[in-house]
Amino acid sequence: MGIKLGIVGAGTIGQVHAQTAKRLGVPVVCIADVNEAAAKKLASAEGVPNTTANPAEMFADKEITAVIVGVPNKFHKDMALGAIEAGKDVLLEKPMALNVGECAQINAAAKKHGRLVQMGFVNRYSPVAQSAKSFVDAGELGRIYHAKANIYRRRGIPGLGGWFTTKALSGGGPLIDVGVHIIDLAMHLMSFPKPLRVSGKVYANFGPRMKNYLFESMWAGPPRLDGKFDVEDAAHALVRFEGGLTMEINATWAMNFPANSVQNLMGFFGDKGGMTFELGGTSLRVATESNGHNVDITPTLRDANGWDEQLKRFVHSVETRTEPGASGAKGQIVQSIIDAIYDSSEKDREVEVG
Ligand SMILES: NC(=O)c1ccc[n+]([C@@H]2O[C@H](COP(=O)([O-])OP(=O)(O)OC[C@H]3O[C@@H](n4cnc5c(N)ncnc54)[C@H](O)[C@@H]3O)[C@@H](O)[C@H]2O)c1
Repeated sequence: MGIKLGIVGAGTIGQVHAQTAKRLGVPVVCIADVNEAAAKKLASAEGVPNTTANPAEMFADKEITAVIVGVPNKFHKDMALGAIEAGKDVLLEKPMALNVGECAQINAAAKKHGRLVQMGFVNRYSPVAQSAKSFVDAGELGRIYHAKANIYRRRGIPGLGGWFTTKALSGGGPLIDVGVHIIDLAMHLMSFPKPLRVSGKVYANFGPRMKNYLFESMWAGPPRLDGKFDVEDAAHALVRFEGGLTMEINATWAMNFPANSVQNLMGFFGDKGGMTFELGGTSLRVATESNGHNVDITPTLRDANGWDEQLKRFVHSVETRTEPGASGAKGQIVQSIIDAIYDSSEKDREVEVG
């Protein structure tokens, strides 16, 4: 039997998933959202036959074989567990959950019920990231010993006062929200070395101003000025891995850098070559050695849509019963780094990754 999807969450990312499924001809049977009006609107736009305000009702539907979870972070664990226990495979949006303990619960349930969990680490599938991976796999960088992973917004706190900036619902600020993407991508390109220790610092200099915060963009806006802001708006860290490898991480929603002075630079440095690209960008630059020469390569990237690639891989894993590359196990490792950065910041010193 071919895959039949249910989607939990009809917000911004639920819409992207529903559109992607439609584009690829992957059937979506039902959309569940506590705000059923939102579910109905999306279902009608994308030709999905059923909606419900109760995700449990959707999980009980035997026709549905796999579920995409795209709800606020706090509900990832319960939605993933509900789907897994009902026998569904899960494409789970990032971050995997609020903390590593919750991730472990999801992975244990998936193992117990023989279900697959793929993480929504969509940045892996962009043309530039896929091309970068092919250069790493071909050995053009040699042994990668250091990576730089940066994602900067200058004044771009999402949904100020809403769930993104409320720790109990989100688990944190830019580190868990967008930092999770660059940590996964950098780890993926470094073949997931074992993280050992972390030194990190997170800051909240902009969000707490609320009413006086001048912004340039606001995903999930407009701001709710009577809402909450109890997360960080910038995070900076150094991770040490087994084998002496290191990674720098900078993830900000707000930071006062002059226009065009920083990039969302991903950099990978090996003993044979190095490579840089902008996250989701259109150009990859590789420096390597060839025939006794130092050479610089700027490959022509293949055309691909990351959202399509992500869903195709999920369908492939489900239909062939093979563990996805962006597995729940990897989601848990990424989360262990995030947890350690928050812990290090609070303790004001380097900590072990648990
Ligand atoms: N992969 C990416 O690049 C990417 C981009 C954006 C968001 N996300 C992730 O997707 C998730 C959702 O983000 P969003 O921007 O779509 O948020 P959103 O606020 O736009 O939408 C969330 C939706 O979930 C619904 N909802 C809330 N609690 C629910 C529950 N218990 N059961 C069912 N529905 C519930 C809400 O009514 C809302 O419609 C987050 O985890 C976020 O980190 C991933």
